[in-house]
Amino acid sequence: MNWIIGFLGLILLGLVIYWLFITTEGVFFGRRVVVWLYDLTSGNYDRIKEFEDEFERAAIVRPLQIALAGRPEPCILDVATGTGRVPLLLSAGAGFDGRVIGLDASSGMLAQGMEKVALLPPEKRRQVTLIQQSAGKLPFRDNSFDAVTCLEALEFFPSDRIALQEMARVLRPGGFLMTSRRQGWESRFFLSRYRSKEKLAELLNELGLTNVEYYPWQVNYDMVTASK
Ligand SMILES: C[S@@+](CC[C@H](N)C(=O)[O-])C[C@H]1O[C@@H](n2cnc3c(N)ncnc32)[C@H](O)[C@@H]1O
Repeated sequence: MNWIIGFLGLILLGLVIYWLFITTEGVFFGRRVVVWLYDLTSGNYDRIKEFEDEFERAAIVRPLQIALAGRPEPCILDVATGTGRVPLLLSAGAGFDGRVIGLDASSGMLAQGMEKVALLPPEKRRQVTLIQQSAGKLPFRDNSFDAVTCLEALEFFPSDRIALQEMARVLRPGGFLMTSRRQGWESRFFLSRYRSKEKLAELLNELGLTNVEYYPWQVNYDMVTASK
């Protein structure tokens, strides 16, 4: 009998550890643990994600191009840029004449991104800047970006409200926000961090963002766009 209880206890412990460190990526232990886990796994991130170029261009680059049409040399901020997904996609796109700053708290993720940036031709390389910084306090003036992106990251921040407030602050009036909302069965394991479409739209509206729209995107994420 004792061994059955011990065995079930071990299974339960394994499930709890899986939930805390794999499903929710350390988020219940705070920013340092989340960032430490990303530092640890940064070398495998791109391989695990297997982003497909064509899908990425259609889902991310195209809506940004449409939103930024008519804006010469647009300035874009990518919050929680990871290994530089958005900056690299944008700079690789033909006709992009702007500047893109990618910000992330993980030095490991940024190092991976910098390796890829270093391979760009000099004129493209100059368009991209990667900086280490937390999403909770953006080191930029109000109204300084034409677009702000933040993909697959809101649920990992200590406060998505504070991070979105900062993104709204640095976005210029008329600017475009592109972010993502965790969805699917795993999203419920984020407990109080989970936001329904209605709750996220409410928060974005409260922060002065309008035209909130959702698009089906990836297995675990909806794409969310809004304007200031
Ligand atoms: C799932 S990755 C997404 C990366 C990238 N946006 C993408 O779509 O590939 C989440 C990123 O959020 C970053 N991150 C987590 N908490 C952060 C915080 N408080 N401030 C800044 N970056 C953070 C992690 O370091 C990681 O690079």
